[in-house]
Amino acid sequence: MANNIIIFDTTLRDGEQSPGASLDINEKVQIARQLALLQVNVIEAGFPVSSPGDFESVKRIAREVRGVSVAGLARAVEKDIDSAAMALEKAEKPRIHIFLATSEIHRKYKLLKAKEEIIHLAVKAVKYARKYVDDIEFSPEDASRTELDFLVQVVEAVIDAGAKTVNIPDTVGYAVPDHYAALIRGLKEHVKNIHKAIISVHCHNDLGLAVANSLAAVKAGAQQVECTINGIGERAGNAALEEIVMALKTRQDFYHCSTRIVTKELIATSKLVSTLTGLRVQRNKAIVGENAFAHQSGVHQDGVLKERTTYEIIKPEDVGHLKTRLVLGKLSGRHALKERIKELGYELSEEEFERAFKEFKHIADKKKRYLMRILGLLLVSRKWKFLLFSN
Ligand code: KIV
Ligand code: ZN
Repeated sequence: MANNIIIFDTTLRDGEQSPGASLDINEKVQIARQLALLQVNVIEAGFPVSSPGDFESVKRIAREVRGVSVAGLARAVEKDIDSAAMALEKAEKPRIHIFLATSEIHRKYKLLKAKEEIIHLAVKAVKYARKYVDDIEFSPEDASRTELDFLVQVVEAVIDAGAKTVNIPDTVGYAVPDHYAALIRGLKEHVKNIHKAIISVHCHNDLGLAVANSLAAVKAGAQQVECTINGIGERAGNAALEEIVMALKTRQDFYHCSTRIVTKELIATSKLVSTLTGLRVQRNKAIVGENAFAHQSGVHQDGVLKERTTYEIIKPEDVGHLKTRLVLGKLSGRHALKERIKELGYELSEEEFERAFKEFKHIADKKKRYLMRILGLLLVSRKWKFLLFSN
């Protein structure tokens, strides 16, 4: 199957807008190299006009990272576009990403501009950027809260002006899956020249729906998904790349599309981003969380030991985890304890095992999981063996 969904990673731009995250130039280049290894299609490296540091990091990534498109963000004004074009000069595949808000709220309170003026500025900016590069993306900011008929006009106008990708941002995470999918279908139906551009989606997670909205949009025909590693980003974050990619891969039967992402690099990428940004990944985070492949209940552990697919829909190795982890706790059963004792190099008779299991349950009932880890270590020592088997 063709790798037909374009993965546009914005960890270094929208991701860096996470409160508390800030990266220096070398760190950004390091992440960009890892994103290239992961084989994302587009790296949004930054917003060049926003600071000298951002300009420099976009410039270095454009010069040093190969095999991917490198995008720079710009408002719909000439100085931003000039700055992005300059920073991207040495890129193998440069993309200028222009944004301008279109919703009534933004027009009325932020921009103080009428609809006609918005269309005029958007078209002018796209045409201006085309002087530098062919690959222009346009984002009508707050698209999901924009009147559909006006959004149709804007999208049609920027495609006529030369935009190759039109991104439909759910800037404030207001959309819900059915609504967002209907929006994408509405654009496909009403924008006359839509076949000349790639439809992209960009979802924020204010209602916890960024990934669900992005996937609903893919089902409705979007061809590019904008996302970040670990879902970091402004406020509640952006759609998490690892979740989008693994949902498309795991449910290919439903989505009938795929990406070119090297999924074995997902954990390494997640860890790098988390270490360098200082934004920790929650334990139960899908795909990359510490508990994503850990099983605690006896019933589940027994099932997984008999046949992994009873309780796992993804092979841990496929995303770069070492293997399934069976956590010994009060809910664990005989099967898991037997496996752990075997792993530790012990052979117990049935009678010894039954005594060990009884003792284990007794302690596990009282202790938390982290204590069980310590006890696991103690099992290796003579002292524990003595404690366990003497009475
Ligand atoms: O959320 C948003 O609208 C954005 C745009 C700049 C694409 O990040
Ligand atoms: Zn955004």
